[in-house]
Amino acid sequence: MDMEKLVSLCKRRGFIFPSSEIYGGLNGFWDYGPLGVELKRNIKDAWWRDNIQARDDMVGLDCSIIMNPKVWEASGHVAGFSDPMVDCRETQERYRADQLYVFRYDLGDHAGQTPRLLDVALTGATSADARAALDERITKLGNKNALPIKRKDLPEPTVVPYLELVAEDRARVLGPGALHAGTLTEPRAFNLMFKTSVGALESASSVAYLRPETAQGIFANFKNVVDTGRVKVPFGIAQIGKSFRNEITPRNFIFRSREFEQMEIEFFCRPDEAADWYAYWRKTRFQWYVDHGLASDKLRLRDHDPDELAFYSTATADIEYAFPFGVSELEGIAHRGNYDLSQHQKFSGKDLSYFDEERKERYIPHVIEPSAGADRATLAVLCEAYAEDEVGGEARTVLKFHPRFAPIKAAVFPLVKKDGMPELAEKIYRDLKRHFPVFLDEKGAIGRRYRRQDEAGTPIGITVDGQTLADGTVTFRDRDSLRQWRVPSAGVVQALRDRIEGAALPPEA
Ligand code: GAP
Repeated sequence: MDMEKLVSLCKRRGFIFPSSEIYGGLNGFWDYGPLGVELKRNIKDAWWRDNIQARDDMVGLDCSIIMNPKVWEASGHVAGFSDPMVDCRETQERYRADQLYVFRYDLGDHAGQTPRLLDVALTGATSADARAALDERITKLGNKNALPIKRKDLPEPTVVPYLELVAEDRARVLGPGALHAGTLTEPRAFNLMFKTSVGALESASSVAYLRPETAQGIFANFKNVVDTGRVKVPFGIAQIGKSFRNEITPRNFIFRSREFEQMEIEFFCRPDEAADWYAYWRKTRFQWYVDHGLASDKLRLRDHDPDELAFYSTATADIEYAFPFGVSELEGIAHRGNYDLSQHQKFSGKDLSYFDEERKERYIPHVIEPSAGADRATLAVLCEAYAEDEVGGEARTVLKFHPRFAPIKAAVFPLVKKDGMPELAEKIYRDLKRHFPVFLDEKGAIGRRYRRQDEAGTPIGITVDGQTLADGTVTFRDRDSLRQWRVPSAGVVQALRDRIEGAALPPEA
């Protein structure tokens, strides 16, 4: 699937627009249009319903975006929430140093060559991603006479993460996009938190931050919830909300943006039960995506290597999805020990321990954190749903959303604009509209109307036709199988509900 096609469909059909586009947009910010807002809301609602409302051991929270800045000192974000960044003096581009990979060509066999090493840097979430662009890059360098030897004489390169090079070697690297070596600056730490100022006077004491994650608001409210919520460990607190990160390289559409929404759970448990809860959430969260139509062969669970783990974490796994631009993180599930509550206890001076009535024991609960991105989930759902096929000899683009996520659940069409069909269609539309987001479309050839709805991902088309006038039934058409069947007008609400809830299609007539 071609990312450009998806981005253009999203724009054309009102799913996602560049933010403030009439002013030229702003890099890393996106707006959700009429269809996109419904899609994302459905994903968030499904997450909230399944992870909070349907369970006995979860409660919700909605805390402020700007909090006392001490929260971010305690969490480590003020001191450590930074990415190493390098700038290219030739192209003026900025890169995350931890996402630069250097392909090293040892030109030693070609005696007399200066330099002896050719180090070509490329960006990628992994070295394999970066390598995918290597051939094109070398061809471009060859075309611009920027290779020290003929392309065909280049040996096989080895690959080294940029940050593993010593400073002397970094100074010789050919930056991605550059024609001259040695134009990358030394990596500098760049704090990703957006700073703002609270109150009328700007001073050091008025500094505050837009939260870079929703998680810390949950920890900061742990005591409030325990004191008022009648909750008992093990239990979780969930929050959906905006987070802000001044990402160095926002990219891949809504995958990495500077303002995004997170769906986070902090699950508090007994220290000796934390490993089991970690295993439980790792499995449960993976299955949630599978149940909502993400193909299991495009999803993977990647356990972090011990050297990737934060010092307080005993285990972390990423749920990854094979996006068109590479396999990348959709959600992380982390076993965080009691690090967060201990830090907030230390910095706030408040006792955040918990008395376990059953065990007659006091302890600081351990935390399992499944942390998902609503925008990344939306992007994965869009990528998975996008398909091009042929219907009746005509090409169609279709978004095969899980019915729970589809922005519009059904479209109602009068076959022709006469014989009372528009009135009947309007009545069915009004009946349905009380229960679901539905759409009435009276204009154009029926085939074109179906295709417009296929492109919006509407699972069911309901047509009022000649037979409706005779026997009161309407045609239901399934977006994916194109199967058609008849439903009595009086039963359309239930019939649509059955489809949305995943009932099997009726047998072929
Ligand atoms: N509290 C833990 C935490 O925030 P994270 O891995 O930094 O962990 C969790 O973020 C999730 O938030 C990611 O898996 C991703 O889905 C989403 N996310 C993080 N940064 C993002 C960005 N710049 N744009 C869109 N989504 C992002």
